[in-house]
Amino acid sequence: MSFDLVLFGGTGDLAWRKLMPALFQAFRHGSLPEGGRIIGVARDDLSDDQYRELIQSRFEAVEGSKRPSTDEFKKFASMLYFLRMDLSKTEDYARLAALLETRNADSVVMYVATAPTLFIQVVEQIAAAGLNTPRTRVVLEKPLGHDLASNRSINDAVRKVLTEQQVFRIDHYLGKPSVQNLFAMRFGNALFEPIWRREHIANIQITIAEDLGVEKRGAFYDQTGALRDMVQNHALQLVCAIAMEPPINAHADALRDEKLKVLRSLKPWTPETLNLHAIRGQYTAGTAYGERVKGYLEEPGIDPQSRTETFVALRAEIANWRWAGVPFYIRTGKRLASRDARIEINFRPTPHAIFRAAAGAVNKLVINLQPKDGLELHLLAQAQNNRKRSSNPDAAQPLASVQLDLDFDKRFGSERVGAYERLLLDVIDGRLNLFVRSDEQEEAWRWVEPLIDSWSGDGFPRPYAAGTWGPSASSAMIARDGFAWSEEQ
Ligand code: BG6
Repeated sequence: MSFDLVLFGGTGDLAWRKLMPALFQAFRHGSLPEGGRIIGVARDDLSDDQYRELIQSRFEAVEGSKRPSTDEFKKFASMLYFLRMDLSKTEDYARLAALLETRNADSVVMYVATAPTLFIQVVEQIAAAGLNTPRTRVVLEKPLGHDLASNRSINDAVRKVLTEQQVFRIDHYLGKPSVQNLFAMRFGNALFEPIWRREHIANIQITIAEDLGVEKRGAFYDQTGALRDMVQNHALQLVCAIAMEPPINAHADALRDEKLKVLRSLKPWTPETLNLHAIRGQYTAGTAYGERVKGYLEEPGIDPQSRTETFVALRAEIANWRWAGVPFYIRTGKRLASRDARIEINFRPTPHAIFRAAAGAVNKLVINLQPKDGLELHLLAQAQNNRKRSSNPDAAQPLASVQLDLDFDKRFGSERVGAYERLLLDVIDGRLNLFVRSDEQEEAWRWVEPLIDSWSGDGFPRPYAAGTWGPSASSAMIARDGFAWSEEQ
C-alpha cells in the first residue's frame, strides 16, 4: 500500500521529539510501506535536502540504539520531502494538492501537529483544496481545544468536512505497549474479571510522574497546565481502560462506546469535592538528577506571576454498579521525584485475617507504563526463610510482599512497538481502535471543566520543591480515606 504523510508542524517540537524517531523505527523494522513519502510542512524556507539535513542533525540527540547509521539515514531520508506553507493561504494548499497528485497514494495522512488554534483553519483549507478524498485521514494532536466549548467548535468544524472514520484524535498513551496489554489482560483472560470490581478492589492509583520540567515548551505549557496537558486526555483514557466493561468485540466503536460510558459515569464535581478532592501544585527550585534546578516561575517563556499548575492530584469516583465507592486517585506532574508512570490496583484485605502482615505488605496489581513496562502482581507470602524457632507456637512470621513480575522488555524486547510508531502505522492502515472519538473527548472536557473554572478564579497552586512527589496536600487527600500513595506505603 502506498502512502503520503503530510506533517503540518514539520519542524516543530513534536515532529522532532516523537514523530520522526517513531517513523524511523517503523522504517527500520520494515513496517512502513515502501515508497511512501513523509512531507514536512512549515513556514521555514527549506529545500528537501536542507530538511533532510535538519532531521539528520536532530537524530544525533536520539539514544544510541535508536539512532540511524549513515546508511540507514540515507535510505530513510529518501522518503523525506519539505513543503513551505503559510497555513492561512489557500494557494499554498493548492501547491500541496499538486504535490500529492503526483503520487495519488492509497492512504493520505494529514498529521496536524500545530498549535490547536490552527486546527480549524487547516481542516477547512484541506477540504477547500479538495484534499478530503476517501483516502484522506486527518490526525489531530492533543490538547484539542482548551475547554469544552473550544473542543466542540473544533469537532463541529471537523464534522462539516470529514467523517468520523477519517479523524484520528491521537492520545499516545493508548499506543503504549502496557496499555494495550491492559486491554489484553482484562479481555483476553478470564482470571481477573471476577475480582475486577468494588467487592475486591480498595482503590486505584494512577501516577504519571515526570522528572523533567517544562523544557523548551514554556510558552505552550504556561497556557495549558497539567490538567489540560495530561489529565483531560492521558489520565482519563487510562481510567477508561481500567474501568470500562468488556466490549462486545475489539472494533473501534465497540471499545469507544464502553470508554464513553465510563466518562459519563464519572461523578460530577461539587463545591465540596472541588475543595477536598482536587489538588494543584507548581514546582519551585529544587533538585533533579543531583543538581539544583530552577522553579517553574524562573523557566524560560513562563509569566513570572503564572498560576499555571504543574501538578494535579484528584480523587475521582465512577458511579456505576461495578465501581461505586472505589476511589480512583490520579496524579501527574512535572519535576517530580522520578519518571514513573504506573497504574496500581490495590486489592482489599482478606475478610478475616489469620496471618499478620509485615508493614507495607500489600496485595496489588501494578501496570508499569514507564520507564519499564510490564505487570507486577504483589502477593502476600511467607517470604523469608524462617529457621528461628519461637517459644510461642502461635507466633508465625508476618507475611511480606513478593512479586510475580512480567517484564515486557525482557519478554518481548525489540519486538515491542513504541506508542507513536504503533499509532502512526494504525493511521496509515486506517485502524481507529486506539484513537479517541469526539464524544469521548467532549465528555472528558465536560468533567474537567469545573476544575478549570474553579482554578481560573482566585488562589494559587500549592508550591512543591522540584524532585519531590508534589505538595503534601496530595498525600493528605488520600490519607483521609485511610490509604497512601505507593511510595508512602
Ligand atoms: C505529552 C505532554 O502529551 O505527554 C507532555 O504534552 C508530556 O507534557 C508527555 O511530557 C509525556 O509523554 P510520555 O510518553 O513521555 O510519558
